[in-house]
Amino acid sequence: MQIMSQSLEIATVIMIVESILFIAIAIGWYFGARRMYFDLHHKAVYSVVLIHSITVGAWMIPRAATLAAEGAFTDLAASWYQIVHDLIGIFAIIFGIVLALIFLTRKDMPLDLLKKTRPIMILTLILWTASYLLGIIAYVVQLMPGAS
Ligand code: HEM
Repeated sequence: MQIMSQSLEIATVIMIVESILFIAIAIGWYFGARRMYFDLHHKAVYSVVLIHSITVGAWMIPRAATLAAEGAFTDLAASWYQIVHDLIGIFAIIFGIVLALIFLTRKDMPLDLLKKTRPIMILTLILWTASYLLGIIAYVVQLMPGAS
């Protein structure tokens, strides 16, 4: 019982951190990328990717391993949202890291590089948003009575 409530407390912190990161992504896109203010955009990308890598590496991946060991993923109908969340989340974080590395090496962001990276940025935003929304479902399911 105590382990369960501890896990829910951590999940709540993760939920808050991920929501702040999501707002930071929106700020980086709206006030940075859209207005060609790349310094702000790049800083948002670096901080979001760094903090997000910590939450995924320290909490979500170990939690996914526990859920898998408990057999939670064998019931596809009941855990589809978690499986899809994990899979698209992996791609979102890989693309996020690749973009952060490109921005770190080319801070000036010439126009041709901007054109080449734009589709990856849009894809990353879509995957990230979908994973975030499915993460909200995963969190809400834990709050339900009888959730294990
Ligand atoms: C853009 C990528 C991602 C975002 C925005 C994201 C967001 C979230 C959010 C908001 C939660 C709810 C808080 C919680 O229950 O702990 C969550 C939970 C979780 N995430 Fe992610 N996540 C991402 C990537 C990943 C990846 C790559 C994995 C693992 C391979 C993963 C595995 C999990 C697991 C196992 C949970 C907990 C579900 C539970 O305890 O029932 N997530 N995620």
